[in-house]
Amino acid sequence: MELPFAEPYKIKVVEPIKKSTRQQREEWIAQARYNLFNLRSDQVFIDLLTDSGTGAMSHMQWSEIMLGDESYAGSLSYFKLKDTISSLLGMPYFLPTHQGRAAENVLFSAMIKQGDVVPGNSHFDTTKGHIEYRRARAIDCTIDEAADTTILHPFKGNIDLEKLEKVFKKYPKEKIPLCLITVTCNTSGGQPVSMQNIKDVSALCRQYDIPVFFDAARFAENAYFIKVREKEYENHGIRDIVKEMFSYVDGATMSSKKDAIVNIGGFIACRDKALFDKASMFNIMFEGYITYGGLAGRDLGALAQGLMEGTEFDYLEARIGQVAYLGNKLMEYGIPIQQPTGGHAVFVDAKKFLAHIPKEEYQAQTLGVELYLEGGVRSVEIGTLLADRDPLSRKNRYPALELLRLAIPRRAYTNNHMEYVAACLKNIYDRRDTIKKGFRIVSEAPIMRHFTVELEKA
Ligand code: F0G
Repeated sequence: MELPFAEPYKIKVVEPIKKSTRQQREEWIAQARYNLFNLRSDQVFIDLLTDSGTGAMSHMQWSEIMLGDESYAGSLSYFKLKDTISSLLGMPYFLPTHQGRAAENVLFSAMIKQGDVVPGNSHFDTTKGHIEYRRARAIDCTIDEAADTTILHPFKGNIDLEKLEKVFKKYPKEKIPLCLITVTCNTSGGQPVSMQNIKDVSALCRQYDIPVFFDAARFAENAYFIKVREKEYENHGIRDIVKEMFSYVDGATMSSKKDAIVNIGGFIACRDKALFDKASMFNIMFEGYITYGGLAGRDLGALAQGLMEGTEFDYLEARIGQVAYLGNKLMEYGIPIQQPTGGHAVFVDAKKFLAHIPKEEYQAQTLGVELYLEGGVRSVEIGTLLADRDPLSRKNRYPALELLRLAIPRRAYTNNHMEYVAACLKNIYDRRDTIKKGFRIVSEAPIMRHFTVELEKA
């Protein structure tokens, strides 16, 4: 018989997780003001809040922790990471930062000013936050197919070239400091961008003389999708694909907490020495000296090792395979999800799941609270709360997609955990008509409100 798939690793260390009763969960979620971020982690059984910084490091990464060189300047761990970034991504300059949003803060301080626009596919919330904080505007040019969860487009993270060119024609070049391609595109459902699209966007940017950057948090997962979904690349190695992807851009911000499988870390990579020099000044101000950028030497070493492990085909096959496993289970149960399943998470279409709850009562958040109550599973809303208010009108922005994200930490859970999560959602789906009301906001922060928003039952 054909041998079944099995993970290319075994488990050396385990961390117990605790079940709870529904009554306990009802108390805890009320105390948390119906915001899943406010729960203590021991109140959660399976934590799918994020795949960021929650992965399991390998024995090789843990040995890098011991090898870490904690010199303030010129640490050997820094040079290990510099060499890895230069050979893997082909980027000559890099600055370490403590995480992805710190990279955004530093890079955007050097590049973006008031009144600018930054087109791209859907920007992640911190990215948009850092753009809007500078009184600039993020413009979403993702292809329309991304907004329909039932369309089976292989690259729903792609940028619509016509939409992008419209932006280039509407605004003078001086107002467009960069175009940003998020790989994979978290906000549209962990959806990849094709190599062809990266190439085309890059060519258009060159034509209009606009720099193009990656938000590279999940670049390796994107490379895997290029290999398995883009015919021309089926015989290419992951690292060759990665190298080619980066050859089309001028630089990148990276949250290493994702595809570099570390618990903390980030960086900026670029080709332009003048930009590197300018960003270095902000890095020193906000993060730390340019050879550590808010990280310990040991973190830099683990990050370098993680970049290599994160770009191995076998690892990526197991990783993306587990996400697809959960997605397929949910589809088997008739639950509406963003199709095809994304890289790091399964995105449940809450607009369809809870069609009878008005959007003003936050459908995806309502589903997230139900999922927690059902089985202690923590997920995250990628919908109206996250989309926040329009910076000018202060009205709620209702996004095209109202999603509940089940983000899967890397190498942390087994497929039995996925079965459990799927069963919880099936139970809720079967009784969805009994969920009568959603939530309303009691208090919220002026920017990135979803982290701290307080809610009450509507
Ligand atoms: N860009 C993307 C595409 C992200 O998904 C994230 C974080 C960031 C930037 C910011 O990086 O967290 O290291 O500061 N995403 C996490 C998530 C938080 O849950 O999707 P960070």
